[in-house]
Amino acid sequence: MMEDTRMEWFRDAKYGMFIHWGLYAQLGGIWNGTAYPHGTEWIMRNARIPLEEYRKLQDTFNPVEFDAEEWVKSAVDYGAKYLCFTAKHHDGFAMYDSKVSDYNIMHTPFGRDVVKELAEACKKYGVVFCLYYSQMQDWEDPNGNGNDWDFDEEKKDFRYYFENKVKPQVKELLTNYGEIGIMWFDTPYDMPVDLCQELRRWVLSIQPKCIINGRIGYGIGDYRQMGDNDIPVLGYRGDWETPMTLNNTWGYSKTDENWKDPKVIMKMLIDVAGKGGNLLLNVGPDPLGKIPEGGDRVMRVMGDWMKVNGDSIYGTRRCVDFPYEIRWGGLTAKGSTLYMHVMSTRENPDEIKICNLETKAKRVYLLETGEDLPFFQSYEIARDEHRFRVVTKGRRWDSLNTVIVVELEEEPKVHSLYFHFEDLVKTEK
Ligand code: GLC
Repeated sequence: MMEDTRMEWFRDAKYGMFIHWGLYAQLGGIWNGTAYPHGTEWIMRNARIPLEEYRKLQDTFNPVEFDAEEWVKSAVDYGAKYLCFTAKHHDGFAMYDSKVSDYNIMHTPFGRDVVKELAEACKKYGVVFCLYYSQMQDWEDPNGNGNDWDFDEEKKDFRYYFENKVKPQVKELLTNYGEIGIMWFDTPYDMPVDLCQELRRWVLSIQPKCIINGRIGYGIGDYRQMGDNDIPVLGYRGDWETPMTLNNTWGYSKTDENWKDPKVIMKMLIDVAGKGGNLLLNVGPDPLGKIPEGGDRVMRVMGDWMKVNGDSIYGTRRCVDFPYEIRWGGLTAKGSTLYMHVMSTRENPDEIKICNLETKAKRVYLLETGEDLPFFQSYEIARDEHRFRVVTKGRRWDSLNTVIVVELEEEPKVHSLYFHFEDLVKTEK
């Protein structure tokens, strides 16, 4: 029971904003004239940049245009209910005032604690603040995982790093910045299970309500973290989240303008929410602290839609699986309400149909205007088919997604395709 209330805000939120920002933003995926476009935040490892070279990025990090309030206000405009920020990514650099290691943002020309500023802004605007922390990989620490070009793998003492950097830094993050919604860990690889368990206990001993994501490892997180950019094909029963990039990288890229179309994101959001998960959409701000224009544009389109249609996303829960493909869009559900998300009317703009819905509908209307729509429900015995048809003739469609609300008498029940006619009537072949 206790567990349940802890997860409630996460289940209701459905849509979050991920921000990857660190020293690597200055390189934007290019090192010595060579492009490392995929995972620009991985450039230190992908280009095997010696630590002494990479470290110099500390001397030039000065994002004078960074404004925490502007980022958080954007998150609100985008419709995101939570914001997850990279406090320390694999490169080991802390984007906050850490007393544990000098390899942190206070030792740059910028010298401001962006985690603190973001925490305050999130509190002010009612956005749940969450922190990403790379617990296994740390390319600056001689005992951290991942850097095998500066440090001798044989000589590494992971437990030493865990006790002397990970635990104290996680403690700082959970002590100095108010309530943290999620501690978002990453790439646990083959981290020993006892240390993962220890880390979980550690987090909860400091902030018992903090949610821990699945990448703490071994299924001991509070929800399943799906693969990067991966949406499961079938509905998933537990709590889950898909981290998704807006272009093809997490950190800032000088070359990647391959922003996903809002239609594509919309389809994914409906798919994820319908299957009971959350979508965590990522953007990588530039070295000056600005959210790239292309990403911002896409997110705003989504946000504008959410302002009008948010009821069909926030607070929804996993929708029952319908047996047929829904080619006009998708479904989300909240108790006895179904939301039909009409994203394509190419097949038939006059009528939108769901097959195999058994439950009786009471009222059908357009979410945006509240206007009632005529509907028909039928069951044909000889075909053993339930049909639910909404008349949409002459309607104006939102180019992105028009939501039709279906109020049912009870929670939706679906008629199985595996029905035996013999149960219904004696038939002979
Ligand atoms: C990964 C990557 C990483 C990124 C993350 C986002 O596992 O290592 O760079 O932060 O996924 O989900």
